[in-house]
Amino acid sequence: MEIRVVATRPFTDQKPGTSGLRKQVSHFRKPHYLENFVQSIFISQQGLRGGEMILGGDGRFFNREAVQVILRMAIANEIRKVTVGLGGILSTPAASHLIRTRGAAGGIVLSASHNPGGPTGDFGIKFNVANGGPAPESVTGAIHAASLELDHYRIARAPHVDIDHVGRQHVGEMEVEVVDPVHDYADLMESLFDFPAMRALLQSKSFSMRFDAMHAVTGPYAQAILEQRLGAPAGTVMRKEPLADFGGRHPDPNLTHARELGELMYGRDAPDFGAASDGDGDRNMILGSGFFVSPSDSLAVMAANAHLIPAYQAGLKGVARSMPTSQAVDAVAEALGIPCYETPTGWKFFGNLLDDGRITLCGEESFGTSSDHVREKDGLWAVLFWLNLIAARGQSVATIVREHWQRFGRHYYTRHDYEEIETDRAEELMTRLRAALSEMPGRSFGSLRVRAADDFSYRDPVDDSVSTGQGLRMLFEDGARIVFRLSGTGTLGATLRVYLERHETRPDQLDEDSQAALAPLIEIAESVADIRNLTGKEAPDVIT
Ligand code: G1P
Ligand code: ZN
Repeated sequence: MEIRVVATRPFTDQKPGTSGLRKQVSHFRKPHYLENFVQSIFISQQGLRGGEMILGGDGRFFNREAVQVILRMAIANEIRKVTVGLGGILSTPAASHLIRTRGAAGGIVLSASHNPGGPTGDFGIKFNVANGGPAPESVTGAIHAASLELDHYRIARAPHVDIDHVGRQHVGEMEVEVVDPVHDYADLMESLFDFPAMRALLQSKSFSMRFDAMHAVTGPYAQAILEQRLGAPAGTVMRKEPLADFGGRHPDPNLTHARELGELMYGRDAPDFGAASDGDGDRNMILGSGFFVSPSDSLAVMAANAHLIPAYQAGLKGVARSMPTSQAVDAVAEALGIPCYETPTGWKFFGNLLDDGRITLCGEESFGTSSDHVREKDGLWAVLFWLNLIAARGQSVATIVREHWQRFGRHYYTRHDYEEIETDRAEELMTRLRAALSEMPGRSFGSLRVRAADDFSYRDPVDDSVSTGQGLRMLFEDGARIVFRLSGTGTLGATLRVYLERHETRPDQLDEDSQAALAPLIEIAESVADIRNLTGKEAPDVIT
């Protein structure tokens, strides 16, 4: 088979962010852009040569074309075998699982997660390493370095590869195996949870649930697991057909973008349980009837109840959360007498802790939770965990969470996002704030006194690698916190994220509205960072 060596020039913007390389589709379609990045992966990751690679994506616009390009480049770069999801589809957790079970050298997941899709939307590429998890910073750094030196890429002149039939074929020297994207993943879920108890719950007349697939990748997964294997009534899965543009909406599971689900869950005769996942299937939102479970609380409730789930009956080795995630899970870890790790934002930081057997569960405030069953966050896993929990406890979502608050207190929590700010302005805000940190300790704001303030850095306890500049923190004496950081996944301008948290233990103060309960902190955050003035915005664009 003829291999073409194509001359190219480096692009200077191929540094992967919090979760892979994300750009607008129009950017990815520039001549050589995709090819350069893929070649940078192959050059810097020599372990792929002669090995197996997993390939799939969330089905967004450009997914199928990118799969064909990557297959032709894989042939030219002497990959022995590529296992592809049927139609080029694999959810992020399903890809992670396949990398692990196949002993693959790595995998490429095509997704921009919860960002919008379609010709004017976003596209992305994530490279996962042999443990099934997102590439750690040493690997993304090497890919970026290779991208800056690139002067050619290699691509085979191969015919269009059929990815629409399950089976094996040879294209040139390389084997291509097209697999059902759902089957192995559904088996994995069945091995973790009490499917008979969940089936009984879903088939009982007194219980109902809705899952919003948001026209994204989890449609087929949720149908196979919830409706087929667990016997939930047809129609349980809403917006189930994956669409290349997600129906024109953001496939982001929150109450803004999963509006219909929200209306149902807060309406009359609401279902007992509601859930949603994002573009590539790694995020989750959990709702009870008229009740929203904050992702940080969800992680804490899971940790406190894990012994009720077959896979975690023996107990948890430890837990981890990203730094901006609320400290609710810390309180559970303390009660259980297990370690709790605080990592920078992004799933890649959990990989070493999971591989080293230090933790079993981990999560982020950004609607991400998972366990050691894969090396990615896992949306449907979280939904099934809650379903199993509801079946085991025989209580509603709201009762489970309220009982949790009675026992551990409530960590009131919110995140305010200011989107599409001019990059210079955002940098200025962070620079000024960073400069002010050293003056903060001891300062009082109303009744709140600052105990410490810093720019978060993390030393990985397994490999001793250090990550700096991971978010500015103001820590108050009563345990409250304000964290400021800039998003590493946006594609337009900069996004400022402000995370706010305070712990409440008074039993009669646990059912307040989060925004009201956090109002004094919100005011402090706005004034110390001069947000209105520097962003030109009167209010956040998104509140979660
Ligand atoms: C966001 C979330 C982060 C998550 C990432 C990928 O990153 O905040 O927790 O891991 O998306 O889903 P950010 O845009 O904040 O860098
Ligand atoms: Zn995602």
